[in-house]
Amino acid sequence: MSIRAMPFAVLLPIAASLAACDAGKVEQPPLQKVTYVDDVAPILQKHCAECHVAGKQGTEATGFQVDSYESIMHDSRFGPVIEPGSARTSSLYILISGKDNLTVSMPHGKAPLSDADIETIRAWIDNGAVKN
Ligand code: HEC
Repeated sequence: MSIRAMPFAVLLPIAASLAACDAGKVEQPPLQKVTYVDDVAPILQKHCAECHVAGKQGTEATGFQVDSYESIMHDSRFGPVIEPGSARTSSLYILISGKDNLTVSMPHGKAPLSDADIETIRAWIDNGAVKN
């Protein structure tokens, strides 16, 4: 290979990976198959229900409840908590992932969810947050 041909061979893959990066896709693994019933609901029940059911502090403060699919898809007092197809703009995902360096994170005042649980919820929302 001549010296003049080199930069092309080297630069093309770099340009391709930069384009992928621009689209925000680089960190995201392929969507895994997750369901509301088997994967998402148990995580919310285990880590969120103690505060986000009727009469508890999370529900009192925000109106957000995790007792059914319909209740989590319902707007809280501050608007939608889940935007189907877009985890990174869904306040539920933003709060559990700590992605935005917020002072508030969920679960409130407790250890964060495991990476696997956060990833499960991300995949479910990005897949459309369907009742499956
Ligand atoms: C120990 C109690 C507690 C636990 C556990 C908890 N929350 Fe919260 N949550 C709150 C309180 C209280 C608020 C109101 C905001 C504040 O005071 O920080 C809140 C607010 C929220 C909001 C904001 C609603 C809005 O419209 O902006 C979301 C979303 C949320 N919680 C999701 C969750 C999820 C998901 C979990 C489980 C991973 C969880 N919470 C666990 C107490 C809790």
